[in-house]
Amino acid sequence: FKIKQLVDQAFTKNNLTKAEITALLKTELKDLAYLIEKADQKRAAICGNQVHLRAIIEFSSYCKQNCYYCGLRKDNKEIKRYQLKKEEIVKTAQMASELGYQTVVLQSGEDEYPAQTIAEIIREIKAKTKMAITLSLGERDFAAYKLWREAGADRYLLKHEIADRSLYQKYHPKMSYENRIESLEYLKLIGYQIGSGVIIGLPGQTPEILAEDLLLCQDLELDMIGSGPFIPHQATPLKASKQGTVAMTLKFTALSRLLLPLAHIPATTALGTIDVEGRQKALQAGANVVMPNVTDGKYREQYQIYPDKICVNEEAGDCRQCIGGIISSLGREVSQTKGHSLRKD
Ligand code: 5AD
Ligand code: SF4
Ligand code: FES
Repeated sequence: FKIKQLVDQAFTKNNLTKAEITALLKTELKDLAYLIEKADQKRAAICGNQVHLRAIIEFSSYCKQNCYYCGLRKDNKEIKRYQLKKEEIVKTAQMASELGYQTVVLQSGEDEYPAQTIAEIIREIKAKTKMAITLSLGERDFAAYKLWREAGADRYLLKHEIADRSLYQKYHPKMSYENRIESLEYLKLIGYQIGSGVIIGLPGQTPEILAEDLLLCQDLELDMIGSGPFIPHQATPLKASKQGTVAMTLKFTALSRLLLPLAHIPATTALGTIDVEGRQKALQAGANVVMPNVTDGKYREQYQIYPDKICVNEEAGDCRQCIGGIISSLGREVSQTKGHSLRKD
């Protein structure tokens, strides 16, 4: 394969075979600049200069799952867990709205936070602010997805993490790949804008598997697609594994833009953690979204999905300012709209 030719093909018809995507994921450093440049050009054509901010509230670090890579896994007894009350969550959301955010993301581990309480939180945030609401709560029963949609939630993030069935099973004991995909399909069916994505660099992951991830994301007609590098956490079974790379994360980000041109694509905190310029690089490789933390500073250290997470010693206002600076330094602008899906289904 000629890499430049493939990039041009992706740029003009956003439609490639698995072998072609695989070849692009194997792009060597000398050709990487061209892939990134074309993804940036596509981003500019579709999104212009506007960057959407999504304020994340990490409201509970309890999790009943045992994902092999994650510091919040149930078997990690070394961390102190916390769970915010309904009033605290609503107050944090109001503060995010006052900071100018147009979207709030309610995120937690797979906690058993009562579905009815979540519905009340959604209704209160909708009554008190004009923000769009994204949920990122893992897998729950389908009735809960419906309840929350009816309460007014707009979007749902549920990363499929890795498209290879046997690796999915290995890294997610007692979870089901089928249920995860069916959840995404059901969420879309009942009117959510849906987001999925992957961890880059899990042991055993190959470019072929990442190509399948991208094809799956196309099949799911995602509104949002995210990818962050794997960062080994010492209290997990993958503690001795190698970290994901900046280069592969940028390739995946660029290909996400070329293959799903209308998707919202975040420059992830994980990429900003392994490279001080990581988010800037992603914003110049196809990304058009940043997701700053608005959780009260005293909880941040306890939400350690991976080690050395950035922004642990900051407060919401600090991160809002920092991100504003990053965006203007790139000649981009913070969007004043909600940044709903660009897809017209
Ligand atoms: N490194 C990078 N990302 C991780 N996630 C979980 N553990 C890690 C890790 N060690 C991501 C997953 C998950 C979200 C909670 O964080 O993609 O969806
Ligand atoms: Fe829990 Fe999500 Fe971490 Fe898995 S990735 S252990 S579901 S918080
Ligand atoms: Fe939190 Fe930069 S985004 S300090």
